[in-house]
Amino acid sequence: MLLDGKVVVITGAGRGIGREEALLMGKLGAKVVVNDLGAHFDGTGASTGPAQEVVDEIKKSGGEAVANGDSVSDFKGAQRIIECAIDTFGKLTGVVNNAGILRDRMIFNMSEDDWDSVIAVHLKGTFNCTRHACVYWREQHKAGNVLNGRIINTASDSGLLGNPSQSNYGAAKAAIAAFSIIIDREMAKYGVSVNCIAPVARTRLTVDATPATAALMGQQVAEGEFDVFSPHNIAPLVAWLASDDAADAHGEVFRVGGGTVWAMQGWHSVGKVQQHAVWDPQELGKKLKAELAKGGTRKETMADVFAGGL
Ligand SMILES: NC(=O)c1ccc[n+]([C@@H]2O[C@H](COP(=O)([O-])OP(=O)(O)OC[C@H]3O[C@@H](n4cnc5c(N)ncnc54)[C@H](O)[C@@H]3O)[C@@H](O)[C@H]2O)c1
Repeated sequence: MLLDGKVVVITGAGRGIGREEALLMGKLGAKVVVNDLGAHFDGTGASTGPAQEVVDEIKKSGGEAVANGDSVSDFKGAQRIIECAIDTFGKLTGVVNNAGILRDRMIFNMSEDDWDSVIAVHLKGTFNCTRHACVYWREQHKAGNVLNGRIINTASDSGLLGNPSQSNYGAAKAAIAAFSIIIDREMAKYGVSVNCIAPVARTRLTVDATPATAALMGQQVAEGEFDVFSPHNIAPLVAWLASDDAADAHGEVFRVGGGTVWAMQGWHSVGKVQQHAVWDPQELGKKLKAELAKGGTRKETMADVFAGGL
């Protein structure tokens, strides 16, 4: 099977997209550390229930899995998550940084705690698990044990395209995409690849926490019809990225939803004004307005994504 011999940590795997990733990767032969704090969608509270339920489900279908309830935002907790894989299954070959929360507010209503909590789970949590895994893979590589380490991070259209009321979340997600590209460049020489996904799926984050997408994604699908917004549709891409077959995928960012996978690219120049001298501000403004009016700088929005269909 695609993931025979693999040992993967999936954070936030008790529910939603992470749960589907854990179930599929367990089915494809990977041994899975199912991490989940069991928190409310705003990050408050904790329960070991969701992670253990996913472990039970993987075991019921013949796979191997273990639950872990540490928070990814805690540096030492993240170390325990990584050690849980090595202690239980003897090694680590992949990390899926998926855990997430939402605290949507317009900037003028956003509290310091709303900002800090979202950055802590998404951005710091991704750093924490990545950092501990990379220390391990570098040590193993130096000892001659090449494990083909794989990190799959989770960004969002909110960060790649920009979504009002999600400045905390979007800033963290854009940073996660950049972080993925940077760590891939640092770790490639140790046989590690880092890629990133921006999923689109029906979970409590898009139904309970976000009224704007609830109406679109929450609709029931008739029996036998392809369920475009099922979180199940995200897992195949992540399973492939965790496999040896994805050795050539480096620092990529993929949007994924329904049966569609988009290869995304970040900041790149789409026009320029230039002179070999210091600009006069007004003259520069005149030239820039003319350049922007050419229209090549129009930004894709989240509305465009849904209008294009999955
Ligand atoms: N659903 C979408 O359309 C969508 C779109 C873009 C990005 N994402 C991202 O996908 C990921 C999964 O989200 P989901 O939609 O499945 O939501 P979800 O709420 O169903 O799952 C997130 C899980 O993360 C866990 N979690 C929260 N804080 C944690 C912490 N500190 N440590 C460990 N676990 C923690 C929660 O308990 C929950 O089970 C998130 O990173 C989210 O931002 C989702």
